[in-house]
Amino acid sequence: MSTSISRKEFLQRSAMAGAAAMLSSLESLAVQRADKKLRVALIGCGSVSNRYIPNLQGSSMIDIVALCDIKYERALEQKKKYNVRAETYPHIEAMLKGVPFDMMVTTTDMQMHGELNKKALSAGKHVWSEKPMANTYAEGKALLELARSRKLHFWGAPAVVMSPQFAFMSRSIQEGKLGRIASAHGQYGHTGPTWSAFFYEKGGGSMPDLGVYNMATLTGLLGPARSVMAMTSIVNPERTVDDKGTIKVEAEDNAHLLLDHGKGIISHVMCGFNYFDPHGHEAKGQQLHSIQIYGDKANMRMIGYDWETYGVWLDDSWDKPATLHEPDPGDFQWQMGATVVGESIIKGIEPRINAEHALHVLEIIEGARTSSATGKKVELGSTFPWPMV
Ligand SMILES: NC(=O)c1ccc[n+]([C@@H]2O[C@H](COP(=O)([O-])OP(=O)(O)OC[C@H]3O[C@@H](n4cnc5c(N)ncnc54)[C@H](O)[C@@H]3O)[C@@H](O)[C@H]2O)c1
Repeated sequence: MSTSISRKEFLQRSAMAGAAAMLSSLESLAVQRADKKLRVALIGCGSVSNRYIPNLQGSSMIDIVALCDIKYERALEQKKKYNVRAETYPHIEAMLKGVPFDMMVTTTDMQMHGELNKKALSAGKHVWSEKPMANTYAEGKALLELARSRKLHFWGAPAVVMSPQFAFMSRSIQEGKLGRIASAHGQYGHTGPTWSAFFYEKGGGSMPDLGVYNMATLTGLLGPARSVMAMTSIVNPERTVDDKGTIKVEAEDNAHLLLDHGKGIISHVMCGFNYFDPHGHEAKGQQLHSIQIYGDKANMRMIGYDWETYGVWLDDSWDKPATLHEPDPGDFQWQMGATVVGESIIKGIEPRINAEHALHVLEIIEGARTSSATGKKVELGSTFPWPMV
C-alpha cells in the first residue's frame, strides 16, 4: 500500500494537527488556571536529576507529573527515591502520548538535547534544557524560532545570572564603580565526570559542560561578545567511565577562550577536565576567585564558582582593604533554573534567565571550536538583552 499523500490531504492533515496542538495547549492553559500548577515532565533521570527533582518539588507552583529515561529503571528508581507522584516512561514518544504536561525539563546526555527539545516543542510543550539547549547554534536558533512561532518558552541552563552575587557585580559595573572596564577572567575545572562517557564524546566537552557557566557570567556582566578566539586541546586521550569502561576522548578536555565585548573589553575563560581541585566536582568550600573583573577604579573577585559562590570582594581603594559583599547565597541554587522559569510561566512574568543569552553562549562555544581548528578569530552574530541587572 502506498503511504504517499496528496498536497491537499497533507494540508488538511496539517491543519487538523495544528488545531489539535492548539487545543492541547489551550487545554493545558485551562488546567494551569484551575489549579495554578505547572505540570512538569523530566527526561533524563541520571546524576543531575538528584538536584532537579527536589528543587522542583520545593515549589508550590509545580507538579512533576512524568519521569522518563531510556534506562527505564532509573525513572522508576527516582520516582521511588523522591516519592514523586508521576507516571514513568522509557522514551520521549511514550511520554508525549502519556499524561498531559506543560513543560519538559531536559537532563539527558548533552548529545540528545537538540532532538528531544525539538520533539517537545513540536508537541506544544515549554522546555527548560540543561546545557547545551541544542547541539549546534543553528539548531538552537531554529528551535527558539519554533518555540516563538508556537507561543512557547524555550530556555537553557545555566542559571548563574540568578545569584545575588551576579546581581551585585552587574549593579556595580552599571553604576560605574569599576571605572573603565578592561579585562575579566573566568575559570572552571576539575578532573572530569567519572560516570558517563557522553561528556568526552563528540558533542560533549569541557566548554558545554563547564566553561558554559563562566561564559554566561562574563557575557551577562560585560555584554554580548562580538568575536572569539580560542585554543582547545585533548590532554587526556583516554578515560575510564562507569557506563562504557575505557573510551577514547573525542571532545576538548581543555579550552582557553578570549572574548571581545566591545569598547576594548576583553575577557578570558579557561575550563577543563584535567584541573586538579581538592574540592572536586561538587566544589564544596571552594574559595578560589573563579571570576575576576578589572577596571581602572576597582576590581571585583567572585569567591568560589559562579554557580555556587560565597561572595564578592570589591577592591576600590589604594589604602583600605577590600570589602566583602553578598556572602550569603540566599535562595540561589544552581539547579533552580527549571523551577524559576516554571514559576515565571505561572506568574506570567519574564525571568532574568533568557533564551537569547543561552543561545549566544552556544554560538561562543561553536565559534571557539572553529577558531581553535582554523587559528582564526571568529565573529559572532547573536546578542541578547543587556544589561541583565
Ligand atoms: N551531574 C551534574 O552534577 C550536572 C550538573 C549540572 C549540569 N549537568 C548537565 O545535566 C545533563 C545530564 O548530566 P548527568 O550528569 O545527569 O548525566 P547522567 O549520565 O548521569 O544522566 C543522563 C541520563 O539521561 C538518560 N538519557 C540519555 N538519552 C536519553 C533519551 N534519549 N531519553 C531519555 N533519557 C535519556 C540516560 O540514560 C541517563 O540516565 C548534562 O547536560 C550535564 O551537562 C550535570
